[in-house]
Amino acid sequence: MGAQLATLPINLAIPLLNRGQLIAFVLLQSRIGTAAIPSPTIELLVAMAQNAANALDSFLLYEDLRQSQALMRRTDRLRSLETIAGGFAHEIRNPLTSIKTFIQLAPERKNDNHFIGEFSRIVLDDVNRIERLIQEILDYARYMEPRLTDEDPNEIVSSCLYFIQVKADSRGIKIEKDLAPELPRGMLDRQQIKQVLLNLLLNAMDAMSDKTGTLRVRTTKLQKADGEVWTQIEIEDTGHGISSENLDHIFDPFFTTKHASAVNEGTGLGLTIAHQIIREHRGEIQVQSTEGVGTTFHINLPSHRS
Ligand SMILES: Nc1ncnc2c1ncn2[C@@H]1O[C@H](COP(=O)(O)OP(=O)(O)OP(=O)(O)O)[C@@H](O)[C@H]1O
Ligand SMILES: [Mg+2]
Repeated sequence: MGAQLATLPINLAIPLLNRGQLIAFVLLQSRIGTAAIPSPTIELLVAMAQNAANALDSFLLYEDLRQSQALMRRTDRLRSLETIAGGFAHEIRNPLTSIKTFIQLAPERKNDNHFIGEFSRIVLDDVNRIERLIQEILDYARYMEPRLTDEDPNEIVSSCLYFIQVKADSRGIKIEKDLAPELPRGMLDRQQIKQVLLNLLLNAMDAMSDKTGTLRVRTTKLQKADGEVWTQIEIEDTGHGISSENLDHIFDPFFTTKHASAVNEGTGLGLTIAHQIIREHRGEIQVQSTEGVGTTFHINLPSHRS
């Protein structure tokens, strides 16, 4: 590099320093030669270089922060994968049984065109269903840049409930679903909204771990004061509730009451990330809770602006 630099017609090299460390340098060629550059000009150039160093440092810090946030979100997302995998295993049992039956019967019924035609169609549907489920899980687990697509909020809610049903059944928790028929669609990041909903649903189930309970999930149209129509997603549990002292802190990073001794150890990042994601969607997240009675979370999401 030194040899390469030596061949360039450079008169002035200004270091970009940050906290005493060289992070870059600017090479300048003067038309009039170094000797002729007045020292105030050099001082000005050095001051400008310092500003550039600060800006570069801020950019690098921001990039670091962005990467840490992405990693944090991904780690959080992987926490709900265990539950999703349980739901997946259960969901593919039926189509697999139907495929197996077809394969077992096919040799003796190979001349029965009606049977072969009908069952080939059913088996193809089953294979497509398994493929869709696999894709759904891969999309969720894989790291992704935020991507807004045109989505039906009811469909995202249903897809989450589908995956947690097995866990709820195993814990004796009843799920009640009440979805508004004509919800406005929204530009949403499907995987991120799923991450938020799964966080809230798993929290609700954790809060009901010492007794059986009911998890109510409702969607409604919300008319805002300015006339805009939003979607409201309500997740209500009959769990142990949150004390008013803790209620002020549940969205704080690393705030958790699920310590190693409890059934589930928590990171305390679930709600922090949920809050961030909803804010990035220009939405709102609210909570109401009564100790010993239960907790309700509301997520309000804007719809398309035409
Ligand atoms: N539905 C709920 N009922 C009762 N307490 C809740 C509920 N949702 C959240 N909390 C409280 O808020 C705390 C923070 O929740 P958050 O999802 O951020 O972290 P966590 O669930 O403890 O950990 P992780 O999400 O990593 O498993 C929980 O530890 C719990 O005390
Ligand atoms: Mg949580």
